[in-house]
Amino acid sequence: MTTVSEKLLTRTEETGAPGPADPPDRAAPLLSLRDVRISGGSGGREIVHGVSFDLTPGNVVGIVGESGSGKTLTCRAALGILPPRFEVTGGSIEIDGTDISALSPARWTALRGATISAVFQDPASYLNPSLRIGKQIAEVVRVKKGLGRREARERVLGLLRAVQLRDPELVHDQYPFELSGGMLQRVLVAAAIAADPRILIADEATTALDVTVQAEILDLLADLRERAGLALVVVSHDLAVVAQLCDEVLVMRDGGVVEQGPTRRVLDDPRHDYTRLLISEHEQYGLEKFLAPKALAPKEEA
Ligand SMILES: Nc1ncnc2c1ncn2[C@@H]1O[C@H](COP(=O)(O)OP(=O)(O)OP(=O)(O)O)[C@@H](O)[C@H]1O
Ligand SMILES: [Mg+2]
Repeated sequence: MTTVSEKLLTRTEETGAPGPADPPDRAAPLLSLRDVRISGGSGGREIVHGVSFDLTPGNVVGIVGESGSGKTLTCRAALGILPPRFEVTGGSIEIDGTDISALSPARWTALRGATISAVFQDPASYLNPSLRIGKQIAEVVRVKKGLGRREARERVLGLLRAVQLRDPELVHDQYPFELSGGMLQRVLVAAAIAADPRILIADEATTALDVTVQAEILDLLADLRERAGLALVVVSHDLAVVAQLCDEVLVMRDGGVVEQGPTRRVLDDPRHDYTRLLISEHEQYGLEKFLAPKALAPKEEA
């Protein structure tokens, strides 16, 4: 099987590139949430009240909603990294057909990075400030892919190229503080895809960035999906971000899903007042421009 990074590293120039072998909507889900409930915190009460979706290869599911609505907890549950004293108290989560509630820590370690991976906001806090960028990504590659030093270096440079950093050799030898926010976020994406995951969760991955850089990172994610068949969960409080990228969208409020459906249907024909509110907040920016089919062109780095 061709891996994500192999596909990424051998860029093809053709337009209308073939998608994954199975049509995305008929393939078995890579990630499946069924009525997932999450409880915890100081009161131990239920905070997320039933989230369900199926993510198939090459598809993008978006989760949008106000701050505190449970978007991040839902993602963390799928990654098996809920905060202390939080737990899944109802429903089920399957990754590639495996119920994660039964996974041993060792199985989790194998799964994380290699099957499911994530990019969060605030890249600086996920990188070690005293290690060069290349070394940090090489660590992932060596541990997860078992590559030797030289192979790892080549692969890291390929990954830095794949996330469209302009000067991979330079970035490879730089420290986190030497890079801009947009470049750091690209580095995090490179680290997240280093072990060829099939699912990537991007939780507010562009929120801290200015609008132009945000658009570039979103293009990068779209590109990963197009060329590598990566399945994405994209979380944002910004409906425009979700509109640009997602096939299906879940609108969350107060721990519940108030509306869910194909992105276009939800945006063109919102059925819940809260969705209408989110849309009206965006009307001034013109949501349509995010819905226009996009040409996927290589972008300049931030
Ligand atoms: N580590 C934690 N400790 C205590 N409470 C938490 C923790 N993480 C989340 N919560 C609570 O759970 C609820 C849902 O939080 P979550 O982080 O999932 O929201 P969110 O939708 O991701 O919000 P945002 O858009 O601000 O990122 C919130 O009320 C929050 O206060
Ligand atoms: Mg969050």
